[in-house]
Amino acid sequence: MLHSTKEIRHNYKDQSHGGKEAIRRLPKFKMEDSEMEAAVAYEAIYGELALDGNASLNLATFVQTWEEKQLHKLMDNCIVKNMIDKDEYPQTAAIEERCVHMIADLWNSPDSSNTMGTSTTGSSEAAMLGGLAMLWNWRKKMKALGKPTDKPNMVCGAVQICWHKFARYWDIEIREVPMEKNKYSMTALDVLKYVDENTICVVPTLGLTLTLEYEPVAEIAAALDNLQKEKGLDIPIHVDGASGGFLAPFIENQKSLVWDFRLQRVKSINASGHKFGLAPVGVGWVVWRDKSDLPEELIFNVNYLGGNMPTFALNFSRPGGQIIAQYYNFVRLGKDGYSKIQDNSSYIGQFIAKEISKLEIFEVVYNGNGGIPGCTWRLKDNANINFNLYELSDRLRTRGWLVPAALMSSSPVPPLPSD
Ligand SMILES: Cc1ncc(COP(=O)(O)O)c(C=O)c1O
Repeated sequence: MLHSTKEIRHNYKDQSHGGKEAIRRLPKFKMEDSEMEAAVAYEAIYGELALDGNASLNLATFVQTWEEKQLHKLMDNCIVKNMIDKDEYPQTAAIEERCVHMIADLWNSPDSSNTMGTSTTGSSEAAMLGGLAMLWNWRKKMKALGKPTDKPNMVCGAVQICWHKFARYWDIEIREVPMEKNKYSMTALDVLKYVDENTICVVPTLGLTLTLEYEPVAEIAAALDNLQKEKGLDIPIHVDGASGGFLAPFIENQKSLVWDFRLQRVKSINASGHKFGLAPVGVGWVVWRDKSDLPEELIFNVNYLGGNMPTFALNFSRPGGQIIAQYYNFVRLGKDGYSKIQDNSSYIGQFIAKEISKLEIFEVVYNGNGGIPGCTWRLKDNANINFNLYELSDRLRTRGWLVPAALMSSSPVPPLPSD
């Protein structure tokens, strides 16, 4: 059989880098008219993704960067499942419900098999839903008292950006207790200074994004209990447990910490399944203490997918795989498995803090004990060096490590020594 070289080269479909398609440019602004071989498209895009950072060297994220191969298979199997279509995928819906009850139980809900909760795309959506329920409940309470409802506020420490979004989108004044040097968390005393009858809720964070420390939920709850006794103000708490929600129940020296539904005043909690819940990115959870804490007006009954399904979410369609992956981790790891992983991560954070503290120029802010696994540090005021933490972070990046430097929200912008 005779072939011309050109023909062979251009007809050889198995060679993803050898065909003429491999030298086509990938489109950036307009879709091409013609198709591309699947193998070539795959290789081109896969290759381009090599320019991303290496997830396992990313110490800036709390989000999961490793999953078991069985979990990959389940995700693959679920790629077609739209979790909102609970009629078509009733088993995915049932598994979501199981997760809600299991999480409610982890957080010591008084009636975990009946409690209300939902999966979300992450803690941001979960926080919005928790905050919205608080807003609605506060409005109802104020209307019943014949009081105005036009000036709601919320009180918090140095919260993650999702709470700033929540406050702006729903026109709520955010009273964020400012950080001070060597005091990065909100205390019970701070809370009492900022709350009033227009406070829809107080939001302590179990695992501050910047320092990794836990805010003292029980002390804040006790202070609000006293306030109610003295002044009649009944202000509920929503705990942002984005990270801590899946840590405190498992880390050995955190198991005795009382931060959850054991505190009567804690009405709702959010957590990211995709952080220390160990599920792949794209799942969060919000759970309410009691059915009555979630106003019925916020629940929509959807009947055009076949059945009649109650939903409370900002999104509609959403992938089901992350929920299944979350359940897989619950089943696969159990409490022991989670504890082993979280304890190990916690030891690693403490080890790094110890090593960092040996470097004279640094002052450890959080030593890895009592909050999120990890550690945080700052440059000593008298550190006699000609670089700052942003530059250090940049140097580490040249070796692939992502170690973030951040500005504490209430600190002045530090001048760059190289400026
Ligand atoms: C305390 C806290 N709340 C909320 C969020 C937002 O979480 P998500 O990325 O799951 O939307 C984060 C993310 O880092 C966080 O640390």
